[in-house]
Amino acid sequence: MRSLLITGGAGFIGANFVHYWSRKYPRHRLVVLDALTYAGNLASLAPVSDAGQLRFVHGNICDSDLIDTLLAQEDVDTVVNFAAESHVDRSIVGPDPFIETNIVGTHALLKAARRAWSSEQCSSKTYRFHHVSTDEVYGSLGPTDAAFTEATPYSPRSPYAASKASSDHLVRAYGHTYGLPFTITNCSNNYGPYQFPEKMLPLMIVNALEGKPLPVYGDGGNVRDWLHVEDHCLGIELVLTHGTVGETYNVGGNSERANIDLIRQLCGLIDAAFADDSNLETRFPRCPAARKSSTAELITFVKDRPGHDWRYAIDASKISTALGYHPQQTLESGLHQTLRWYLDNESWWRAVMDGSYRAWIEIQYTKR
Ligand code: NAD
Ligand code: DAU
Repeated sequence: MRSLLITGGAGFIGANFVHYWSRKYPRHRLVVLDALTYAGNLASLAPVSDAGQLRFVHGNICDSDLIDTLLAQEDVDTVVNFAAESHVDRSIVGPDPFIETNIVGTHALLKAARRAWSSEQCSSKTYRFHHVSTDEVYGSLGPTDAAFTEATPYSPRSPYAASKASSDHLVRAYGHTYGLPFTITNCSNNYGPYQFPEKMLPLMIVNALEGKPLPVYGDGGNVRDWLHVEDHCLGIELVLTHGTVGETYNVGGNSERANIDLIRQLCGLIDAAFADDSNLETRFPRCPAARKSSTAELITFVKDRPGHDWRYAIDASKISTALGYHPQQTLESGLHQTLRWYLDNESWWRAVMDGSYRAWIEIQYTKR
């Protein structure tokens, strides 16, 4: 039986991971540590927290005393570090929290894990510090460049990407210098349930349903490699259960799309959903599909993101060959499932969208 400390477990990927892990390993102890920033929501954990398997702790990964206490009290053998500031646009407007959480916070976790796991009586146990990272550390690709491999040199280009690159370096340094048993995954763009509606896909869904503009940065030609969040969880599971300590694994969906193509595809799915279900016209009367118009008419080209990376693409052959990783969802099936989730969970996204989110979007919108 494992005892996991899951940091950032009330955020998008962390919460999906908690659901995933509690379904597959109901006897494991799950301790979620989350600061509940604007991006963290206890409502995302609600279906699990009833099970008694989960302990939620409201706290910060920079709080060394708290981490020491949790690692000892819960006899933690596995740390999965999702906690981060994760939105590129926010890192451009205000990088400080990115440095604090992503770099200083990761370092605080590393120090605590080293302290907790280096004593004599711990020597017979198996420990793992798994760090969840991103493909953005590798920089930006041109149209014909080969996809990122684990050997691609780091070239982060936004404050967010630079803070994640720093944290990756710290994790590897703790492995090399102190023998901390770590693994890292660098993953492409995730989408799916419980994603805060500031990231591109949920923002487009929510805006479309409310009849608001769909803000496409630049000409919409930037390319991302999309992966359903459950397939990211599957990748992390394989690395935790069969991965080699000290190794890095890229995780991706082999689903590159230009933003504008993905947004048009999503608009088509929304139109089809309204055509199939007349209740949607009543629930979302401002969506163009409610009056049999095309949702794509809301597409609005806006000023580009400063330093906008042009293309990301992941070569996931290492994890596929070494660990038998294969994503279960296609982009088509995953988009369909995700749209359905947002249609069925209006109360979740309305609840997370009040307060700071509104203020943030309004500031961004007036600045463009
Ligand atoms: P998110 O912003 O949805 O969630 C982050 C969570 O961390 C929130 O619950 C927040 O409250 C918590 N948090 C923030 N600062 C904290 C602190 N100091 N102490 C404790 N908790 C804190 O992010 P996400 O999209 O779920 O991403 C999770 C991880 O995966 C991040 O490390 C991110 O870099 C990485 N990642 C994300 C993607 C993606 O597409 N979203 C892709 C690859 C990697
Ligand atoms: O690649 C992995 C990364 O993916 C993660 O590390 C980050 O945490 C995650 O936020 C994501 O970063 P991106 O910047 O790629 O994601 P975002 O959803 O912000 O934007 C996706 C693309 O869509 C990007 O090219 C910018 C564009 N975009 C985004 C928003 C929010 C728009 O055109 N309009 C928008 O309103």
